[in-house]
Amino acid sequence: MSFDRKIRIAPSILSADFANFGAEIRAIEDQGADWVHVDVMDGHFVPNLTFGPPAVKAFRPHVKTFMDVHLMIAPVDPYIEAYAEAGADMIVAHMEAGPHIHRTIQAIRAQGVKAGVSLNPGTPPESIEYLLDMLDMVLVMSVNPGFGGQKFIPSAVEKVARVREMIGDREIHIQVDGGITPETAPLVAAAGADVLVAGSAVFKGGSVEKPEVYGANIRAIREAAEKALAA
Ligand code: DX5
Ligand code: ZN
Repeated sequence: MSFDRKIRIAPSILSADFANFGAEIRAIEDQGADWVHVDVMDGHFVPNLTFGPPAVKAFRPHVKTFMDVHLMIAPVDPYIEAYAEAGADMIVAHMEAGPHIHRTIQAIRAQGVKAGVSLNPGTPPESIEYLLDMLDMVLVMSVNPGFGGQKFIPSAVEKVARVREMIGDREIHIQVDGGITPETAPLVAAAGADVLVAGSAVFKGGSVEKPEVYGANIRAIREAAEKALAA
């Protein structure tokens, strides 16, 4: 996949119908999703539990675009191989998940998948400085991880701008995750984010029977972000 900074919308399937993932993934992709964002939670690093490697493996054949797997788990290293084998295109680990993020990123890259690091709202952007040459993406969390449907934390905007500066001309995506809506998307896009995760704002009001609502929701977020860039 060649690199560019076009706005990409990555719906989080945390907000999908859990009894119908295959159809939900096909619906969001048909309706314009650029990536499919998979939130993995362990009930320890975050207070919620979601998908093990067998679930991710079951999603894989339905994803035609790009599957980024956001690991909110600690420890993370023992599970990297299993999530890579399950078919992740990119694995994102949290800065705060252990003492050896550099080793974790090395382990992700050794699996031949793209590598990202995620920063919780309280984690300073400077912590990525010595990782930059190993990264395909930096994820700036705009909520405390664990649940969909939370309120956007405004300090994420300044953090995105700082990360954008640090990245310079390196081919590293900046993803924002949490509370992204047509109202908040322009703020992070203007600051330099290019991959926007959205759970509730994509799935709200829609269903596999009413997929056009997903399409309208995705378009509203994309258009708001693109307008901020054109301004
Ligand atoms: C939060 C997850 C997010 C979440 C986003 O822990 O990482 O991906 O599902 O949901 P919304 O868009 O509803 O804030
Ligand atoms: Zn996420």
